[in-house]
Amino acid sequence: MSVPVTGRASAAAAGESTWHAAWLPPAAFRELGSRPVLVHGDGLLVDTVLDEVSRACARYGGRVWHGPPWQVDADLVLALREAGPVPNAAAEAARLGATPAVNGSGDGGLGDEGYLLARTNGVTVVLADAPAGLLYGMFHVVRLGAAAFDDDLPARRHRPALDRRMLDHWDNVAVHPVSGQVERGYAGGSLFWRDGAARREPARLRDYARLLAACGVNAVSVNNVNVHDTEALLLTDRLGDVAEIAEVLRPYGIRVHLSVTFAAPVVLGGLPTADPLDDRVRAWWIDATRRVYQRIPDFGGYLVKADSEGRPGPFAYGRDHADGANLLAEALAPHGGVVRWRAFVYDHHQDWRDRSTDRARAAHDHFAPLDGRFADNVILQVKFGPIDFQPREPVSPVLAAMPATRLAVEVQATQEYTGQQRHVCYLGPWWSEVLRFRPRGEAGGTIADVAAGRAGAGGGLAAVANVGDDPFWTGHPLAQANLYAFGRLAWDPLLDPGAILDEWIDLTWLPVTTGDPEAVRRTMHAIMDDSWRTYERYTAPLGVGFMVRPGHHYGPDVDGYEYTPWGTYHFADRDGVGVDRTRATGTGFTGQYPPPWSEVYESRERCPDELLLFFHHVPYGHVLHSGRTVIQHIYDTHFAGVEEVAAMRERWRLLAGAVDPAVHDRVAERLDEQLRSAVEWRDQINTYFFRKSGVPDAHGRRIH
Ligand code: GCU
Repeated sequence: MSVPVTGRASAAAAGESTWHAAWLPPAAFRELGSRPVLVHGDGLLVDTVLDEVSRACARYGGRVWHGPPWQVDADLVLALREAGPVPNAAAEAARLGATPAVNGSGDGGLGDEGYLLARTNGVTVVLADAPAGLLYGMFHVVRLGAAAFDDDLPARRHRPALDRRMLDHWDNVAVHPVSGQVERGYAGGSLFWRDGAARREPARLRDYARLLAACGVNAVSVNNVNVHDTEALLLTDRLGDVAEIAEVLRPYGIRVHLSVTFAAPVVLGGLPTADPLDDRVRAWWIDATRRVYQRIPDFGGYLVKADSEGRPGPFAYGRDHADGANLLAEALAPHGGVVRWRAFVYDHHQDWRDRSTDRARAAHDHFAPLDGRFADNVILQVKFGPIDFQPREPVSPVLAAMPATRLAVEVQATQEYTGQQRHVCYLGPWWSEVLRFRPRGEAGGTIADVAAGRAGAGGGLAAVANVGDDPFWTGHPLAQANLYAFGRLAWDPLLDPGAILDEWIDLTWLPVTTGDPEAVRRTMHAIMDDSWRTYERYTAPLGVGFMVRPGHHYGPDVDGYEYTPWGTYHFADRDGVGVDRTRATGTGFTGQYPPPWSEVYESRERCPDELLLFFHHVPYGHVLHSGRTVIQHIYDTHFAGVEEVAAMRERWRLLAGAVDPAVHDRVAERLDEQLRSAVEWRDQINTYFFRKSGVPDAHGRRIH
């Protein structure tokens, strides 16, 4: 069992885990664990519930019943409805008292993962129709703490808005010469793999699964979308390693997926081709997939990056991406699996002199014409923005263009472009903004609706994972909040990101592990609430993106990508900056949006300030809605951003002594680096634009 590392220098020596408990320290279970609890029902995930409750009760003096004698005065009943009446009069009365609330709202069912939480006759009741629901219901009780036992707790049905809530690990089995053990990983090594082999550390993996289940994640892919030679073998020779991981994650309701290479029939099967229309290729996939399901009956499916950044794909055979995806879908369909096909397809050998090619257009150009051609078990996984996980981008137009396709929205929890887990950057508000965006205007649905799909058939939400073998899981301890927020938003995209942060704070920084809980809460909010916008302020301005150092993508380099083949340009010159993506004079990208956004983005006047340079090339003197000129905005935000980071650092300093010293030191060290880096960003960006434009700062501040 894991414990927080709080004050336990000798945890390892004492046989306890050496990793931080994140949002599940034992004390989070205090309320539940100090009561009589009755668990009714059977199944693998019910055993998990039982195990969790038993451990909590052993620690905090409660008791758990799962069989006779049933005569207990339960405070909490966790029951599967299909298990029938509870053989305990009071508990049964409570169960029956809660039942009408299940049927009384909507379609009457709780689904595979839903639950009802109610307080009736002085007993808190969790009812579920399937074991996973009971598990999620139990974690809800944990989240509520004492409030779960308040008599005024309203009866409520809870069901996830999105069925698929997935983390994509970009973990390599073998250390890759360029991308390392974890591509874009900022939290140490992989939890699954080390130096070419499976790690086989089930205790840590189990704790990981608990953390994920407690925030609602129900799927992972265990290897990088860039599938190299060793990783390709996970589909065949090394399948046993995947099965072992699945074994550990299964009790927490998490289904394993695998990234596969489109060239597998060639590189693994020895065939001369991977042409999706070749019968030998089809037979190979069907057979390989059958073997996967023999080993892993609840296997989720494949994740595929094809014809993207050098990965093999159907284009080599003159086929399109529907042909490619449907090939794998055919093999997976009989087993109930899905293929998650990524829409991240663009030309990374662009000539910067060629103004007609626009990377932002690529996904829509490739995929929108294929709408309706994908098999039912294909999910097209679309990055939330048209470029690449920038701190600010418009929402991808693909998400509004394919009503006949199951779409998943992909975000990046690993902070490749948002400070690499050295900077505090709470992404909940950003993801929330994306999920609430209405691509067809106020009358239409949201991006969350797109991810939910019709009748729950959508592709859900996926995040590139930010976790590794770091003792704090995420490198920066505060980056845990991004993982937590991802799971919670995938469960309910309408949750308020500030409220999610509160949940995470309450669970992670419990009064027993902190000196002054109110000060901790206040400080966390003060540091984190606006940290994404702070990051936005001191990095690339007004949605223009990139300006990062090529390759590793950390720190500023305004022209780093300007003349490269990657297609990420800002076009700054002495007169102005920004990318003309209008229909009138630019690349026409604005035309990929439906109204009203096609019109809003087309117009310099109507385009939101924060996206102005994404859509328009404007003079430095262009006046924003804020009333400031573009150049003055650049100066002001960069000065302000650095000041905000300096204030964050001061705030954190004041928490010394109030939180676990190991956490305090780690965060303090990262804030030092964040401040150094923010200053570097400010000075490079301001200096660059001052030299380009020749326009002085209206406030006469120092620009180099
Ligand atoms: C970015 C990232 C790559 C990654 C790619 C992807 O380009 O820098 O490391 O492979 O996204 O999403 O596939």
